[in-house]
Amino acid sequence: MTRKIAFLGGGNMAASLVGGLVESGHPPAAIVVSEPVAEKRRDLAERFAVGVTADNREAAAASDVVVLAVKPQDMAEVVTGAAGAMRERGPLVVSIAAGTRIGRILEWLDYPAPVVRTMPNTPALLGCGATALFANEAVSDEQRDAAETILQSAGIALWVDDEGLLDAVTAVSGSGPAYYFLLMEHMIRTGERLGLTASQARALTLQTALGAARMALESGRTPEELRVGVTSPGGTTARALDLFREGGFGELVETALTGARDRSRELGG
Ligand SMILES: NC(=O)c1ccc[n+]([C@@H]2O[C@H](COP(=O)([O-])OP(=O)(O)OC[C@H]3O[C@@H](n4cnc5c(N)ncnc54)[C@H](OP(=O)(O)O)[C@@H]3O)[C@@H](O)[C@H]2O)c1
Repeated sequence: MTRKIAFLGGGNMAASLVGGLVESGHPPAAIVVSEPVAEKRRDLAERFAVGVTADNREAAAASDVVVLAVKPQDMAEVVTGAAGAMRERGPLVVSIAAGTRIGRILEWLDYPAPVVRTMPNTPALLGCGATALFANEAVSDEQRDAAETILQSAGIALWVDDEGLLDAVTAVSGSGPAYYFLLMEHMIRTGERLGLTASQARALTLQTALGAARMALESGRTPEELRVGVTSPGGTTARALDLFREGGFGELVETALTGARDRSRELGG
């Protein structure tokens, strides 16, 4: 039987998940998006032929899965507002809001709901995301599959068995795209200083990032093996890597990611 899925919030992330679901064969008629902005509702209905409404309660009451896709600051209002309509049917609740703990969601719902909390990242908007999921004890195996299917429509999805690990996930993949952007910025800037044009430095840097990621994903070798494989003793790569190491690159990465993990804990309360 096809699951009915409601999205509360029809913004960027919801559009990406809805698009992925429809593309992978989920019937659009079994998806409804609740969104206050009329223009966004029209756009979602036109692009994906899904149902739209401005009424969170109506969408939530009729669904097997309710995806909370509003900004974290809007979560309390949205969840308390829809809770009464969800209590009887007791749908699976899937949250994509960064930093909102399951305990808070259950307080707002005020009944013992099955809840999956997820931490997607920005490339999910291109269908290339990395998402971690955590389920509370009320979630059945069938509901775990449902949550995984929804998040997989925007990239890879994997489970963690401790909600606290979502802070580590935030440090690695949640904030991770920005680390790569920073490295790209510095490589482009330095390429220009070394005489390349801006467009040459940019094209070479970005294609190198893509190529390196694809090699790491597709070669069956670890990043360490790949690094050793492209580093001839006494060569140019060896010189650059020695200088990275002397500058404390590894320690700096560890300090930065640990800082992000700690900040995620602070923000989650
Ligand atoms: N974008 C990312 O890369 C990313 C990554 C990880 C996690 N997330 C999480 O994903 C969630 C959604 O992010 P997003 O980027 O998709 O944000 P977004 O584009 O702002 O989407 C949120 C949508 O919810 C709507 N909304 C506001 N109040 C509402 C209400 N009371 N009822 C129903 N809908 C309401 C907003 O309408 P208005 O336009 O009127 O505000 C907006 O269209 C956030 O919790 C965020 O933490 C996003």
